[in-house]
Amino acid sequence: MPDTTTAVEEVSEAQIAVHWKEEEYYRPPAKFVGQANLTDPSVTERFSLDKFPECFKEYADMLTWDQYWHTTLDTSNAPFWKWFVGGKLNACFNCVDRHLTRYQNKAALIFVPEPEEERPEIITYRELWQRVNEVAAMLREFAGLKTGDRVTLHLPMVPELPITMLACARLGVIHSEVFGGFSGEACGVRIADSGSRVLITIDGYYRNGKLIDHKANADIAVRMAEQNGQKVDKVLVWRRLGKQSATATPMIGGRDYDLRDVMKEFAGQKVAPVSMPAEAPLFLMYTSGTTGKPKGCQHSTGGYLSYVAGTSKYIQDIHPEDVYWCMADIGWITGHSYIVYGPLALAATSLIFEGVPVYPDAGRPWRIAERLNVNIFHTSPTAIRMLRKAGPDEPGKYKYHFKHMTTVGEPIEPDVWRWYYTVVGKGEAVIVDTWWQTENGGFLCSTKPALDPMKPGSAGPAVPGIFPVILDENGDEVPAGSGRAGNICIRNPWPGIFQTIWGDPDRYVNTYYRKYAKNKDSKDWRDWPYFCNDGAMQAADGYYRILGRIDDVINVAGHRLGTKELESACLTVEEVTEAAVVPVVDQVRGRVPEIYITVKPGVQPSKAIEEKVVRVIETSIGKIARPKEVRIVPDMPKTRSGKIMRRVLAAISNSMDVGDVTTLANPEVVEQIRVSVQGKAKVEQKTGPEDIRKFGQER
Ligand code: WT7
Repeated sequence: MPDTTTAVEEVSEAQIAVHWKEEEYYRPPAKFVGQANLTDPSVTERFSLDKFPECFKEYADMLTWDQYWHTTLDTSNAPFWKWFVGGKLNACFNCVDRHLTRYQNKAALIFVPEPEEERPEIITYRELWQRVNEVAAMLREFAGLKTGDRVTLHLPMVPELPITMLACARLGVIHSEVFGGFSGEACGVRIADSGSRVLITIDGYYRNGKLIDHKANADIAVRMAEQNGQKVDKVLVWRRLGKQSATATPMIGGRDYDLRDVMKEFAGQKVAPVSMPAEAPLFLMYTSGTTGKPKGCQHSTGGYLSYVAGTSKYIQDIHPEDVYWCMADIGWITGHSYIVYGPLALAATSLIFEGVPVYPDAGRPWRIAERLNVNIFHTSPTAIRMLRKAGPDEPGKYKYHFKHMTTVGEPIEPDVWRWYYTVVGKGEAVIVDTWWQTENGGFLCSTKPALDPMKPGSAGPAVPGIFPVILDENGDEVPAGSGRAGNICIRNPWPGIFQTIWGDPDRYVNTYYRKYAKNKDSKDWRDWPYFCNDGAMQAADGYYRILGRIDDVINVAGHRLGTKELESACLTVEEVTEAAVVPVVDQVRGRVPEIYITVKPGVQPSKAIEEKVVRVIETSIGKIARPKEVRIVPDMPKTRSGKIMRRVLAAISNSMDVGDVTTLANPEVVEQIRVSVQGKAKVEQKTGPEDIRKFGQER
């Protein structure tokens, strides 16, 4: 890779769009390089395209197989890829049992409760093994779950979450964890889609200084699941606070069970791990897309676990001796891959923090890092921006030392990156900016921490074994390194790629493969590039910069929200006729949704209607989706065929130029809306980021 300080001379459209220029390189600190797992530059050669797919044996060999596999990649049913075929293994065994001989007394998980007066809870590998066995016994005997069944977990950041996940994995039961911050309704929809008859929840948990009644969501979720055709037989309730209850909702006889009581029967029990085929599904993770219905991404056992183990070792640089803290929530894919499965497969110590980073103050994460001697730290740009805003000098007050830091989930502004590097990392830590998606299982782009220089604002080159290509709308390649924007795709499958969308294989093919499939009957992976639904550009040095979603998904604080999901929720408010959701640039959270609605004839626009819309968003999705603003407009800007022009609304909300609107069916309404949002005087029109400029465009 050329070591130039300014990699791209020409200012491309994409660069203007993201408002920042190509930055100078930062070198990985020598102390980091001295101890890193991946320092041999031959990795590029070992994982070159002509070594594909056999190169991934290196990752599979990090696991313990009950039966070794015979076929690395089976493409006979393309694009439904099968990895490590013929192999059998158990994910729980690989994350727990196999570490007992060397590490039984080492901390596997450290749970840090939000209330600072509550002590951290340290769970050794031995203790984790015992607890997982007991829960597995309970799931099998009491809940009646067997291999292949789905079970929905709606759990916050408590140790019972990874313990329950691992217990499921031990039995080959497919877990579907729904982010704890999602509403009961959102949970119910996912229960129904996955066909779970058991829901596992908790009475409550601490967040932002408050004890949240979480069990209340379970009652709503069960009702919602039933409305969608799925009966829930059992609700199993973990307890956050021992004797005291965090919930006011009653337990329903014959349906709800207090796990404090139930688990007594299973004390000390052991359950043999079930040997699973490599292609057996390990879990479902729901995410948002273009249509209103969430997609259950189905991840495999052997391929997924190999990929997260390999990337945790090489990109996260995890050694068994490390104290690793990923501040994401286990309810998202980041937490599944890089709090639970990856780190535990490598016998690391993985920290679980219950609370929000800035409670009770912006020094909290740094006190935790100092006390527990955390040396690898992993978080999102939104959290970094929040911590910088609330306490720009806090990190310097604490004596912790990170060797490695990760950023994930959104583009990070170079200025924010530099604060992360200099102030949080104290100039001692290497940073990786990792780009990937729920569907991917693990990282797609990132620098190799000891080998590649860092470049603020760029995710970096592809990770070993991943071969991206940027395609234009016609499927032609945008020249590599040209700095021109296009749709980023991955040429080849990889072990961590999801297997399908649960219950909807057609949607899987249509969303990710149809657009660029070269030959739909082909059994050759070369004909099936994976369409990421992200815009990106590649600089002359081979580094990728991700420009954001191109599929009506808004990235709020690193979380994916489907605009259609929000819009259909709005339409359940009786006064509302039409709804359009657009992203607005936010200094801390990246993007936040803003909602435009029209109301039924004869209905007076009012604050009350706006508040109803906010409430329906919170109950149907969750507080993370709360809109910045609800705007009642006389009419929506529409094309002559009646399609709402969300791009025009997005431009207005972001004080951007609305562009040419003369071909619309009702151009006059655009100026009316603009005046009502921005005031009479014409604001200075500016150009904005690519995801907003292109938002909702017909493709
Ligand atoms: C979308 C995926 C799996 C990571 C957590 C989010 C955006 C993710 C980056 C990054 C710029 C990023 C993309 C992607 N994204 N990482 N490092 N730089 N953008 O998973 O909820 O499935 O969201 O997040 O737009 O498509 P997700």
